[in-house]
Amino acid sequence: MPASSFVSQRLAPFGTTIFTEMTRLATEHGAVNLAQGFPDFDGPELAKEAAIAAIRAGRNQYARMLGDPALNQAIAARWQRTTGQVIDPDAQVTVTSGCTEAIPAAMLGLINPGERVVLFEPYYDSYRACVSLAGAVPVFVTLRPRGDGSGFEFDPDELRRVMQTRPRAIVVNTPHNPTGKVYSREELSLIASLCIEHGVLAITDEVYSELVYEPDQPHISLATLPGMAERTITLNSLGKSFSLTGWKIGWAIAPAELTRCVRAAHQFLTFATCTPMQLGAAAILTEGDGYVRSLVADYRRRRDFLSAALSGLGMRVYQPAGSYFIMADHSALGFADDVAFCRHLTEHIKVAAIPPSVFYDNPEHGRRFARFAFCKKDQTLEEAVRRLGALRR
Ligand SMILES: Cc1ncc(COP(=O)(O)O)c(C=O)c1O
Repeated sequence: MPASSFVSQRLAPFGTTIFTEMTRLATEHGAVNLAQGFPDFDGPELAKEAAIAAIRAGRNQYARMLGDPALNQAIAARWQRTTGQVIDPDAQVTVTSGCTEAIPAAMLGLINPGERVVLFEPYYDSYRACVSLAGAVPVFVTLRPRGDGSGFEFDPDELRRVMQTRPRAIVVNTPHNPTGKVYSREELSLIASLCIEHGVLAITDEVYSELVYEPDQPHISLATLPGMAERTITLNSLGKSFSLTGWKIGWAIAPAELTRCVRAAHQFLTFATCTPMQLGAAAILTEGDGYVRSLVADYRRRRDFLSAALSGLGMRVYQPAGSYFIMADHSALGFADDVAFCRHLTEHIKVAAIPPSVFYDNPEHGRRFARFAFCKKDQTLEEAVRRLGALRR
C-alpha cells in the first residue's frame, strides 16, 4: 500500500508493512493465517505468573533505562550458558522494546548518514527501513537457493566485493527469516575475517537462536568467533523462543563502548521497556530451558508436516534448519509471481502466506517463492493443509 503523501522522504518508499497487509487480507477472507510469524497458542505460565506477580507487587513505574537489573542479569547469565562468554550485565546489555527497537537503536546509535550497510537479501523488512532512517545506504548480497534444494547460500566473491567498499556495518540474521537458513561456521568465519580486514561492525539478529532443528547445523553467534566480540552487537528477544511475541522484550549485547552508542539512541526511542514484563522475562530466561526444548520438538514436527504437504502439492521446499518459516518455490503451479500466488491462496484457498519479493532489492529474485509460518497449533496446520488440497483441483 503506498504511504500517505505527507510521510517523510526517508519512510515514503516503505508504505505499510507486508505483514499488516497480509493479516488484513487474511482476516477479510477468513483465511488461516500462515503469513505473520506469531504463535496461535499461549506462552508459558511461569512467565505470565512472574509478570502478574510483578504488577501486583507494584512494579508499575518506569524501568531503568538500560533494563531492570534482574533482566540484565538473566540475559548475561543466559549468554554465558550458551556462548561461554562472561559479560557485564550493566555495561554490556541493553533491554529494548522487542528486537524491533534494538534494530533502530543499533543503527541510529552507530551509523552515520551516507555510510554503507551490508544487508543479505531477502532481509527482514525493518533493516532496510532503519538503514534509511539512519540516512545510510544499503548494499546487498543475495542469498540464492542451492541447486540441490538443500537451502540458501551467498557467493563469497559477492560478499568480498561489497566489503571492499568499506561499509560501516553488516547485518547478519541467523537463523534467517524468511529462508530458515542457519549460517555455518565457515560462512560466519568468512564474514568475520572480512569485518576484521575492513574494520566493519557486525549487527547480528539472532531472534530465532533457540529454534534450530538439525544437530549438524547448530546456531553459532558471530560474536563468539575470534576477534568478533569487540565489533559485534548481538540482538535477540523473548518473543520467538518463548511464544510471547506480544510482550516485546528484546535486548542488545555489545562491548561497553558500542553499548553506549546503542543507548544513546535507545534513551530517545523508548527510554525504558515495560517493567513487569521485564520481570516475567527474567523469570522465564532463567527457568525456561525445558519449555524451549519441548517447543523445538513441536516445531520440528510441524515443520516436517507442512513441508511434506507443500512438496506434495508440487512446490519445491527449501527445508529450513532454523526459524519457523518455510520458503517454497511455487513456480510449478503456474502463477505469474509471488503476489498473484499469495493473493489467490488467501482469497480462494483461504490460507495466507507472505510474498517474499518485498524482502529483496531486486524483487525478481523473490517472485517464485512464498513464505509459510509453521508456528501454529497442530489443528491450525492440519486445517491449512486440508484447504491447500484445493490447489490440486
Ligand atoms: C528477523 C527478525 N528480527 C526481529 C524481529 C522482531 O522481533 P520482536 O518481536 O522481538 O520485536 C522479527 C519478528 O518477526 C524477525 O523475524
